[in-house]
Formats: sequence, structure tokens, C-alpha cells
Amino acid sequence: MKKKAISVILSLTMVAAMVAGCGNKTEETSAPQETEAEAPAETPAEAEDTTGGEEADATEGEAAPAGNADLADKKVGVCIYQFSDNFMTLFRTELQNYLVSLGFSADNITISDGANDQATQTGQIDNFITAGVDVLIINPVNSSSAETITDKVVAAGIPLVYINREPDEDEEARWEENNWDVTYVGCDARQSGTFQGELIGDLGLETIDKNGNGKIDYIMVEGDPENIDAQYRTEFSVKALTDAGFEVNCLTDQVGNWAQDQAQQIVANALGQYGNDVEVVFCNNDAMALGALQAIDAAGRKVGEDIYLVGVDALSEALENVISGTMTGTVFNDHFSQSHSAADAAVNYLTGAGNDHYIGCDYVKVTQDNAQEILDMVQ
Ligand code: GAL
Repeated sequence: MKKKAISVILSLTMVAAMVAGCGNKTEETSAPQETEAEAPAETPAEAEDTTGGEEADATEGEAAPAGNADLADKKVGVCIYQFSDNFMTLFRTELQNYLVSLGFSADNITISDGANDQATQTGQIDNFITAGVDVLIINPVNSSSAETITDKVVAAGIPLVYINREPDEDEEARWEENNWDVTYVGCDARQSGTFQGELIGDLGLETIDKNGNGKIDYIMVEGDPENIDAQYRTEFSVKALTDAGFEVNCLTDQVGNWAQDQAQQIVANALGQYGNDVEVVFCNNDAMALGALQAIDAAGRKVGEDIYLVGVDALSEALENVISGTMTGTVFNDHFSQSHSAADAAVNYLTGAGNDHYIGCDYVKVTQDNAQEILDMVQ
């Protein structure tokens, strides 16, 4: 992962447990969260209810791909890296609803929780293969496991749609070269990082530079370091600032694993250590921005007055904060578009229509001006 070269003079009084220069990141321990791993049922007919008990209903305004008459009998296996992830909860709920709206039977859709453990998820994939699912939609725990996953799924003759965690270029090249029924659906995380940087840069140095050193002094809270979304958001948020001619100063860059509680701790420590020099808090997602906001509040700082805070995803709570000014902005990570494209891609494999090996989508920059509009859409 590329880190910006930063001239950070680390204080000698730095708290040891907190040590993390921007090129020397400290990883918070990431105990898998509370959700229990469940192997998929022997037969996909015993689908978990992932809709919180609500009836799955049709999603408006989406044209179903042609040839969906036989979908009711098709079995879909879905692997999610971790159910307790807020964004992936929105994604899987919409995916389930949309699959049903296309004609799949809810009983034939099985969604399993990888509990942030690749071995658990690999066992679930094996079970899906044994159960003879017709198509697999996989949000891998580790993108680096994609080659192994692809090999076993292709060998079983099952089409595969990866979502959210993009496998690397070499892996994607294999799908093309071998003409396998494998694709990836997701947005380009570089765009979300760039939007985050622009949200800050658009405020202007006069506004941001409270300590008057001529630089934007920031802290970075990263998601899972193995994840390309975290890598690109970290890199491109800062790049947008330097490309726009700002000087930047990274005070600390730490891993919060997409989790609110970890980010809250990281930002509390950073505010304790760097005090009023912290002008900007970049979080790779909104869950962590919400944790950062708790720490900012506890430190008596005020977003929009003496500190600026951005996230990504456009969770409802984050949008409410953007509307009220307690977050500077966020970036809408369009789970509607991504889940619908993933389901459509699954149908295209089942009907023989096939797919490109990469299916993209766009992020949307969210400020106080359009936050209500996005909130109305996601609620
Ligand atoms: C990102 C999202 C994060 C987290 C992550 C999981 O796209 O912004 O909140 O859900 O995916 O891989």
C-alpha cells in the first residue's frame, strides 16, 4: 500500500501503544465480531432469513433481465464476509429482496456469514458446491483467497459473481483468458477516496488550517488493510488534496477494520496525543466515522468549526450527521446498484447470456446539499 511521505516529528512522549507514524501503521486487534459463523444448510432450501423477518419485496424501477421464467427453481448461494458489517448488511438485504423480485424463490436463496474468517467461508463454499447450487455470489473474507475459490467453483461448473472485495488484476485476467463464467461487481474505490479528498479540499486552506502551519493536518482511519477499498480510499483521499496543491501532514494512520468501536478508540487516542493539531479525520467508511465522531464529541471538539470529518457509504446515521453538520460529508456507496448488478449477472449466467468480467458502478459525493436526497433514497 502506498503511503504519502510525511514529515511527521513523532513526539518523544508518545504513548507507546499508540505508535503509528503514517508509514508505520499499528493494527488494532480485530477479534471476529459477535456474529456466529453458520455453515449453509445442507440443502439451500433451508435458507436463512436475512431480511429481518420482513417479507422480501420487489424493488422498484429495475428491469429484470430477459429469460427469468425458470428462476424459481434455481438455487443461489451467497457468501458474505461478515454479517455484522453495517454496509454489507444493507447490501445483502437488498440482494435478497432483489433476487426474489426477479423470480427466485426465497427458499432457494441461502446467505451465509463468513464471520470474518476465510476458513469458515471456504467451508461454506464447499458446502454450497456439495449442495449443488446453480450460482454463487461471493464477498470474500480475503481477496487474496480468490484464486483458490475460483478454482474450486469453476471446477464444479458453477458460475461465480464476486462482490465488494475485488480480487487482484492477475486473478481477473485468468477469468478472461480462460473464458470462465466469473465476474466482479463493485465500484472503483479510487473514486470514493478522491471524493473524500475533494470534500475536504473544497473547504479551502483558510477554513481548515486552524493551527496556521500552512498544511492540512489529518489522521487516517483505515478499514481492513488487505482490502483494496481501504487501500485506495487511503491513497486517493490524500492524493486529491496534493493534486489540488495542498500541503498535507499525516499525524497518524491506523487500522480500524471498518469498525465503529475501533475507530472511536483510535481517534480518542489521536486527539489526546495531537490535540488541536488534528484538523481533519479521514475514515475509510461511515461506521468508523461514527466512532470518530463519538471521540470528537468526547474531546469537546466541533465538526465544521475546529475539525472536519468524512466517511464513505452513506449510512443513514452518517447522512443525518451530514445534514446537521456533525459530519463534513460522506460518499454514497451504492448498494442498490451493486446488489442489483450482482443479481442480474447471476441471471445472465443462468440464462446463458454471460457477462463481462468486470461490472462497475459510480460513487456519489455527499455534502449538506444532497444528503437529504440520498437519505430519502436509502430509507
Ligand atoms: C466497503 C464499505 C465498508 C465495508 C467494506 C467491506 O466497500 O465501504 O463499509 O463494508 O466494504 O468489505
